[in-house]
Amino acid sequence: MNKSNERDGMDQVTKAATTAPDLAVPFESCLTEERPEPCIIVIVGASGDLTSRKIVPALFNLYLNNGLPNPFLILGCARTNLSTPEFRDRMKNALKTVDILDDSKWQVFSSSLYYHSIDYEEPSSFNAMAEYLRELNKKHGTKGNRIFYLAIPPSLYKSTAQMLGKAGLSQEGEGVNDWVRIVVEKPFGRDLDSAIDLDQSLHEHFREHQIFRIDHYLAKETVQNILMFRFANAIFEPIWNRRYIDHVSITAAESLGVEHRAGYYEQAGVLRDMFQNHMMQILALTAMDPPSLFEADRVRDEKVKVYRTMRPFPTDDLQGYLVLGQYSAGSIDGKQVPAYRDEPGINPDSLTPTFAMMKVFLDNWRWQGVPFYLTSGKRLAKKITEIVIQFKEVPHSMFRAILGEHITANRLILGIYPDEKISLTFQTKNPGARVCLRSVTMDFHYHQNYTGPILDAYEKVLLDCMLGDHMLFWRQDGVELCWSFLTPILKECETCGDRSKLLLPYNSGTSGPDATKNLMK
Ligand code: BG6
Repeated sequence: MNKSNERDGMDQVTKAATTAPDLAVPFESCLTEERPEPCIIVIVGASGDLTSRKIVPALFNLYLNNGLPNPFLILGCARTNLSTPEFRDRMKNALKTVDILDDSKWQVFSSSLYYHSIDYEEPSSFNAMAEYLRELNKKHGTKGNRIFYLAIPPSLYKSTAQMLGKAGLSQEGEGVNDWVRIVVEKPFGRDLDSAIDLDQSLHEHFREHQIFRIDHYLAKETVQNILMFRFANAIFEPIWNRRYIDHVSITAAESLGVEHRAGYYEQAGVLRDMFQNHMMQILALTAMDPPSLFEADRVRDEKVKVYRTMRPFPTDDLQGYLVLGQYSAGSIDGKQVPAYRDEPGINPDSLTPTFAMMKVFLDNWRWQGVPFYLTSGKRLAKKITEIVIQFKEVPHSMFRAILGEHITANRLILGIYPDEKISLTFQTKNPGARVCLRSVTMDFHYHQNYTGPILDAYEKVLLDCMLGDHMLFWRQDGVELCWSFLTPILKECETCGDRSKLLLPYNSGTSGPDATKNLMK
């Protein structure tokens, strides 16, 4: 940190003694049962996109909904040389762009924002950060509690965790401070070995209970609702198995392309970007057994059991289980969009998949023989995220003389986006003298009869992290089991002789490569 910035920071601390942020509003929030304890959230990488687009808007919204602790401070840290007032201005502009700026509330909220520049490679810079944190803590009474949110490129995770540790910033308790947590965004490595390596580096200074690995899908209300729906109702669980279910489709389709993330996406592709995390979490929530208690570790134990049952793909018959695609030019909502290879920053010969569909089997009593089709892709016709439970047909049709053997089977859809809903399709008789069946759908819309505040995914994960609740975060064993499943597939796809054969082009605005139909046979 340069000297003027440092002084500016200290001046802010001194001033703050007289202008302490008054975030004290009565705690009647139904967001949580308890108010989180006072703390400082340190955003490492505060000059980046994630901070202004997601983290600060989420914290501001939590403040508007009375979900923040009191006192509460935000310390932005990054390489960019900014003063605290400049940082506040930047964040104010960011809130304007997401349209949630409330000027009078901003005045109060912004007084809890500070900035401190750091050099990621310089241990003394982290020592200065530690000193500054001590000052802020002393002035504001945040009880030494702190959260380090790594909003930095994954290549900096290891070294930053090390620097924090060496500056003594990961230590908890013993009067110096109470709790310390570190939040890590995906990707957690790019294969099994690198995931283990990252984890070992984090564990050199932080213990598992201090590490929060984010997956924003877990914080979506409708994703959380999967467990409520399955385990707070007695009627679904008895039929939630191979006896009644023909197959399950989990889809996360997007109409957006790679946007401004070429550098990251070229390295990741759809399998690392969506499957290693979001798709695996939805699979686990759909397929797991009921835990004995709704508690973070018991829920995560059950998820891990699902990951252990995933049948490895036969790498000599990859195409029988996996379809990979890459978008070509096309039209979405009447607008022409370019091919992936023509997007800015993308290699014109890129072999990165932007679409994947995989057929997964779980080798256990409940699911033996039931295919789970997981599909995700960019530049598809529309954005839709849903789980479809396709039940089997009736075992015998008494209407066969009139209607033939086949009667459309029941289907249950758990809609996550855009329709947050649950729909059950079943057969009824058409009114009239003739025997005619029709499929009808019973819909429940998630926000029906609810008028309270709705938290977006980032608000929810930040709140849970402040409360120390790991329910919506990955545990390392789950991360490693999913990588154990995916790494051989990635290896085969990325090293096999004719990579281009595996990668099928599809027109933007369609539902992906035609070969997906063969996979579902
Ligand atoms: C992110 C991926 O994790 O999830 C993106 O990196 C993807 O590529 C996004 O677009 C989808 O999230 P959501 O909440 O819009 O479905």
